[in-house]
Amino acid sequence: MNRNLALEFVRVTEMAAIASARFMGRGDEEGAFAASIEAMRCMLDSVECKATVVIGAGGDIAESSSLKVGETVGSGRGPQLEIALDPLEGVAVCAMGGQNSLSVMAIADEGNLLPVPSGMYMEKVGTGPEGRGVIDILETPKENLQRLAEVKGCRVSDLTAVILDRERHLELIDDVRAAGARIQLIRDGDVAGAISTCLSESGIDILFGIGGATEGVVAAAALRCMGGGFQGILKPENDAQVQLAKKKGIFELNKVFDIEELASGDVMFCSTGVTGGSFLEGVKFKSWGAVTHSKVMRSQSGTVRDIKAEHHFDRKPRY
Ligand code: FBP
Repeated sequence: MNRNLALEFVRVTEMAAIASARFMGRGDEEGAFAASIEAMRCMLDSVECKATVVIGAGGDIAESSSLKVGETVGSGRGPQLEIALDPLEGVAVCAMGGQNSLSVMAIADEGNLLPVPSGMYMEKVGTGPEGRGVIDILETPKENLQRLAEVKGCRVSDLTAVILDRERHLELIDDVRAAGARIQLIRDGDVAGAISTCLSESGIDILFGIGGATEGVVAAAALRCMGGGFQGILKPENDAQVQLAKKKGIFELNKVFDIEELASGDVMFCSTGVTGGSFLEGVKFKSWGAVTHSKVMRSQSGTVRDIKAEHHFDRKPRY
């Protein structure tokens, strides 16, 4: 993939973030999501590529909108790619004015992003580079924390795990507490949680728990670029989900998917903060426009770019 494409794609997440950030704290999830989709769609078509959406803006809210799985996006010229996108990861967070809602996209050559069905859950464990090849999702949280503490040269009590605040995680939370680690419970946004494990300034060491499978693939793409470790196990809840996965060529549903199986080959990842959080600032509106903060990464080079951009609305098409 042409490395310059990453800098084209960040325009797309910037645009989607600006559009959805207008809805921060306004209690309108549907409006925020619809605005993010429209902006992303509009900007995507200006990027020189023919890209198929393999993970799209699915779910009930998006029923009547675009950017669904199977759609082709891009200018129609240039390389054949595939895209996993979430124009607004953390819809409820944005609507309530909370932290860590993002606009994200992972881009790869065809056939490299696992096409997991939307609406399905995935059990996940993610860490920074020290944990790659060390953590094992089939082991207990205690064992994984001990292994991570050993490679990081610290005590388990120095480690912080990020976990989605859900009833289904009560036992997991007890186990992590019993092991002696600290916990940061998050209301939403386990993509940001996973990325935080690779950023020393975040203070987060490991992600545990069950969240969206599509978010798992997006997080795996990001962690591939940052050299992190990630594993996932799909958790279908009914036969319809099992059949949907099979239709997409995923037959081994209790398999451990390693990071390379979720997002393989040369991968690019772009994210722009909508509301501020652990590694990205949120969109700030000014009298003349807006300021965005994004991260753009490539697995091939391992480059991670922080991009602060000023958008002057009087010189741009429409926000
Ligand atoms: P949405 O933006 O699609 O609402 O996802 C937010 C999120 O918190 C994800 O980060 C996470 O993977 C998933 O929801 C968890 O699902 P649930 O809210 O059903 O526990």
